[in-house]
Amino acid sequence: MEEYYWDTKLEYLKRTRDLYYNDDYLEFLVKYVWKLSKPVHIVDFGCGYGYLGLKLLPLLPTGSKYTGIDKGQQLINKGRELFHNLKYETEFFVADTNEIEIERKYDIAICHAFLLHMSEPKRMLQKMVKSVVNEGKIICFEPHWISNMSSYYVSGYEQTQIIKLGILQKLFEEDVKQKGKDGNIGAKIPLYLTELGVENIECRISDKVNFLNPNMNQIDKRKLYNSLKEEGLGEELTNRQVFIEGLKNRGVTLKDAQEQYEAEQLFSQVFSIDSSLAYTPSMKITFGEVKNCT
Ligand SMILES: C[S@@+](CC[C@H](N)C(=O)[O-])C[C@H]1O[C@@H](n2cnc3c(N)ncnc32)[C@H](O)[C@@H]1O
Repeated sequence: MEEYYWDTKLEYLKRTRDLYYNDDYLEFLVKYVWKLSKPVHIVDFGCGYGYLGLKLLPLLPTGSKYTGIDKGQQLINKGRELFHNLKYETEFFVADTNEIEIERKYDIAICHAFLLHMSEPKRMLQKMVKSVVNEGKIICFEPHWISNMSSYYVSGYEQTQIIKLGILQKLFEEDVKQKGKDGNIGAKIPLYLTELGVENIECRISDKVNFLNPNMNQIDKRKLYNSLKEEGLGEELTNRQVFIEGLKNRGVTLKDAQEQYEAEQLFSQVFSIDSSLAYTPSMKITFGEVKNCT
């Protein structure tokens, strides 16, 4: 049987999560924005290996609990292993969140880089809302790809040589039309939550700007460079024709597909461990309160 895609992506997940938030920012959110001062039970939709649990539990009041749900058996195994010797109360379930009913018993439903993979994201958001007790919270950390793409800087190159924002805008919009999956979902969740009856909605942005530069010490530089490569920056392209056909099938014109190829080709040629580069993922963090939502 073919292995489940995300079970093959453990290394990608482990190497890239540090690109998004500084620990002090997560602490700021927990203590000063969400003001979580009493123990809470959190459910993490599409938890992977439990990244959010590992980050949040040390910041939460003692007695807080974490439940992780993911479709990937290998990811859940890893999550159980990582928490095995930690003092936190956790449980992990292998399940397809589209298929299961989730009891309304959690104080907070969270997700990280999950809703962008849903073909019916609003339906999943509703499920998240329904898993939370009255006066609980929903917190979504999701990408806004076009904002991410607009934030690159590679020393020695104009941004227009490397990143074709207009083409990418079109591409991301076409992808939603074709598959329902939305890499820009981070910017839309505030509206979706309003429509689902969630109250006191706020949206913030991830804080981390990754700065690769020649003055870093070798160990930090290698680590950051490897993370950026794993994230897909400067990825080597395979066959030009296949690449262009792929983009055309996703609704891009031949001319735009060719330009996109040239831009990605240039980026892959010039990006190295010795580059100076600023990379800002610009995740959107949307949260609100669940009060008597049906
Ligand atoms: C980009 S990964 C993010 C994982 C984790 N939240 C993190 O940030 O490290 C997306 C995750 O969503 C999970 N996922 C996608 N569709 C799912 C579904 N229908 N039910 C449960 N998990 C799902 C995948 O298995 C994968 O672990």
